[in-house]
Amino acid sequence: MTRTVYVNGEYLPETEAKVSIFDRGFVMGDAVYEVTAVVGGKLLDFAGHEARLARSLNEIEIENPFAEGELLAIHRELLAKNELVDGGIYLQVTRGNPGDRDFVFPDPAVVKPTVVLYTQLKPGVLQSPTGINGIRVISVPEMRWHRRDIKTVQLLYPSMAKMMAKKAGVDDAWFVEDGFVTEGSSNNTYIVKDGAIITRPLSQDLLHGITRAALLRYANEAQIKIIERPFTIAEAQAADEAFLTSASAFVTPVIEVDGAAIGAGTPGPIAKRLREIYIDEALKAGI
Ligand code: PDD
Repeated sequence: MTRTVYVNGEYLPETEAKVSIFDRGFVMGDAVYEVTAVVGGKLLDFAGHEARLARSLNEIEIENPFAEGELLAIHRELLAKNELVDGGIYLQVTRGNPGDRDFVFPDPAVVKPTVVLYTQLKPGVLQSPTGINGIRVISVPEMRWHRRDIKTVQLLYPSMAKMMAKKAGVDDAWFVEDGFVTEGSSNNTYIVKDGAIITRPLSQDLLHGITRAALLRYANEAQIKIIERPFTIAEAQAADEAFLTSASAFVTPVIEVDGAAIGAGTPGPIAKRLREIYIDEALKAGI
């Protein structure tokens, strides 16, 4: 089945969708994005992703192109047209096509944002082997810019970090800055010590994960202690458990960091329980 995608107000077969070679998303990485999980045909944490998109756009002074309710309507239309059950919706908004290359932002009254959305199919996403069996990670130096709270499409270094992990024979990389873990290449990171979850507090140093926000809410309701403070790789290696969160990985156990097994070297009970709680609650609240 050919995917139907959304480009600037039109639903088109993916083979006919086009964006200009002068688009600032392409030339300058001048764009922000969101990924919303779809499970059983439902959108998870949609309101959170919509709110973060508005914030990212505001931070880089791109006018929000969506009228009230429009973004949800597009998501629903794409789900229906592509009969998507399990997977996600990728959304990107760029500063648009000024007609040539120029560092200066174009006049927003003249150049309107480019909007692209498409579905990504992941059948049986809840049963992914990594989500169930856990993953192994290495640490790499943090080399991204200093506004990691803005979800920009500037993903070269995160892609390089994933390749470093792949070459090292593991699944993912955690960024380390000034001795402390900031986050994973495309996820937020946590350790568990003596029954408490430890995770870095929000700042410009890391993305304000929508799955993180939901998970901490659910963990609090389940009376699991949460400590928001930075942690080191040595602490992770000596922790009882570790895990990560993202819209595409939900809650995924981490069983090894830089070659050292964490806890028993298998997914820990708290990570497993939080994965269950997150999936149950997010599905219940899904729309
Ligand atoms: N990545 N940190 C980074 C650097 C991320 O890229 C992501 C998400 C997260 C988790 O955020 P959320 O829970 O809102 O998905 C944290 C998405 C899934 C991606 O790039 O595919």
